Amino acid sequence: MSGKTVQLAPMLGLIDIPFIKFLSKIGGFDEMFLPYMLADEKSLAHRRVLRQRLAGIDNREIIVPQLLSNSAVGFVHFANEFYELGCQKVNWNMGCPQPFVTERNRGAAMLRDLENTKALLEAVLPKLNPKLSVKIRLGYNSADEFPAIVEMFNCFEISELIVHTRTAVQQYSGYADRTTFIAEASKSKNEVVYNGDIFSVSDVQDIQLPNLKGYMIGRGAIANPFIGLQIKGAECGDRQARFREFCLDIQNWYFERGTRGSFNRLKELWKYFSKAFKLENEVFAQLREVEDKQAFEQAVDRIFAEYEMVF
Ligand SMILES: Cc1cc2nc3c(=O)[nH]c(=O)nc-3n(C[C@H](O)[C@H](O)[C@H](O)COP(=O)(O)O)c2cc1C
Repeated sequence: MSGKTVQLAPMLGLIDIPFIKFLSKIGGFDEMFLPYMLADEKSLAHRRVLRQRLAGIDNREIIVPQLLSNSAVGFVHFANEFYELGCQKVNWNMGCPQPFVTERNRGAAMLRDLENTKALLEAVLPKLNPKLSVKIRLGYNSADEFPAIVEMFNCFEISELIVHTRTAVQQYSGYADRTTFIAEASKSKNEVVYNGDIFSVSDVQDIQLPNLKGYMIGRGAIANPFIGLQIKGAECGDRQARFREFCLDIQNWYFERGTRGSFNRLKELWKYFSKAFKLENEVFAQLREVEDKQAFEQAVDRIFAEYEMVF
């Protein structure tokens, strides 16, 4: 049984308010991160816009908005607005590897220029009302950069350093590098959170450090929403019935708000939901081409009636 914090990873295009809302019903996750939003000086958002982003979430303390920014003014503005709306903590995305992000010196590009990032943190931290969480990678080009990154963050007191244990150039390919994390992350004065390729309880068992705050889980939480409860050693109840309810709750939420965009989102989710079935590929094939609400609902009912689950 683990007393560690379990966090839901931000995943743009996959994890949104309905996923968070219905995962809260299952339990096991202490904090849930929203996908990144741009916190630019030029596009200072009104509170109304940010309120819309949080609409439907009652328990704001467990929600952590994520900001993508290389502007101290922009970051402070958005973060403090979210604080006014009840979010106790914000996350700074310093890990996004997408070229359209890094070309503008945002996301993982901030790991390439530690002097500039340090100056931004110096400017932001004294003005920030919520607690600051930062999500990074092991490095931009190579995991050899990780010790210098940890050292730079040691100049500050932050809530946590979340490490996706790949480099930016790796994007999402290859394996997460636990070895470098275990060897180097204990040198962080700030608490650290491990992220990368956690799909079962056994995947967290070898990650033990004195300053380890917990684990962040993305894809593994979509394929198995009980993973937080399992890591905590808590009762999951009837997993098959609860998983069906979870999928249907999300589906109904999207369809009640109209079908535009819903199919794509649900299909993206089902790429992972289908991993909960023994015949994963056959299950996903039932939905791949469906573009009609009723046909989609029928296909999902058929999947739950006819296909055996792995749990
Ligand atoms: C489709 C997709 C969208 C993502 N969106 C974000 C994001 O908005 N912010 C972020 O920090 N990381 C994002 N990530 C990275 C994840 O948060 C996480 O670090 C990565 O998937 C590794 O964790 P996992 O192995 O548990 O999935 C995204 C990853 C994927 C595959």
